Amino acid sequence: MKAHLPEFAQRLIRWHRRHGRHDLPWQNTTDPYRVWLSEIMLQQTQVATVIPYYLRFLEHFPTLADLATAPVEEIMALWSGLGYYARARNLHAAAGAVMAEHHGAFPRDAAQIAQLPGIGRSTANSIATFCFGAHAPILDGNVKRVLCRAFGIEGFPGSSAVEKRLWALAEELMPKRHGPIHNQAQMDLGAMVCTRGKPRCEACPLDDICVARATGRIGELPQAKPRREIPQRHATLLVLLHDNRVLLETRPPAGIWGGLLSLPELPAGAEAQQWAERRCACRVIAVSPAPTLVHAFSHFRLHIMPLRMQVVPLLRAMEANQQWLALDALAAAALPAPVRRILEQAVSVERVRQDE
Ligand code: ADE
Repeated sequence: MKAHLPEFAQRLIRWHRRHGRHDLPWQNTTDPYRVWLSEIMLQQTQVATVIPYYLRFLEHFPTLADLATAPVEEIMALWSGLGYYARARNLHAAAGAVMAEHHGAFPRDAAQIAQLPGIGRSTANSIATFCFGAHAPILDGNVKRVLCRAFGIEGFPGSSAVEKRLWALAEELMPKRHGPIHNQAQMDLGAMVCTRGKPRCEACPLDDICVARATGRIGELPQAKPRREIPQRHATLLVLLHDNRVLLETRPPAGIWGGLLSLPELPAGAEAQQWAERRCACRVIAVSPAPTLVHAFSHFRLHIMPLRMQVVPLLRAMEANQQWLALDALAAAALPAPVRRILEQAVSVERVRQDE
């Protein structure tokens, strides 16, 4: 892998001369205000979308001082439709900071640039390289994809361990000369050739040294963000039926379905019939399971097993939060969606049973 390092930059620079982008509105300038604005607008946003916003923005605010003194509402209005609005608020704050803390002169040093609101290491390096002759690598999403594929880097590139490796690699790849071309070439290659879907490997200058290509792993690298395991929970809900009525409980105000009407939930490990008879003041005559149903909450999935029971109420007091509700009053009741579904099924089964 090491043997390819100097060649990597050479190939990119050569490729960029012929195939890269040279006439974007933020190129051919070293004005840090213009480069900074373009880098912020280009975060998570495609070049074609950015161009009209960029030009309109500069018409309104030709200089950083104009931006710093404008009301933030005016900036938000010009940003409207571009998305990720924190970028616009940070832009305004950073312009203010340049005026207040740097006497209106954009800082030249990458580490100082990275102190400004909304500017991360990659954006700071990009500005320092394009405008102030620094030799600082960039590592945006496009560049990460190029490096993960070219060098066969495993793991999710957003994780801190992989990102650390990628920064170290990016530093090593940075050539002594042509820093701005090299950085622009990486971005252009990622946007135009080494794209996320359907990359054009046949047009890539790294074609024969790309590890992902050689090992048939273009579709697998970079690795996707690992999906967090969603916890699975299980609950048994009792559908106690008697004389076209169902026993419901009002849930406690806090927790899932707080304050709504629901079905009694069998505690883990309890024996269903015994528990129902004691807790719900009834005698159980028949028990039948109903189809399980899965409900997704934001942090877990609940597998609900409903148990239908034909019961006879006893002349004992029920719990304070319990009531027998007529089946034809269910439509107007405050029920959570999965409970409503369980009850609708129970009602239709009950009708068939009664018709038989
Ligand atoms: N994305 C981020 N910076 C860019 C630039 N200078 N040119 C094209 N796309 C970019």
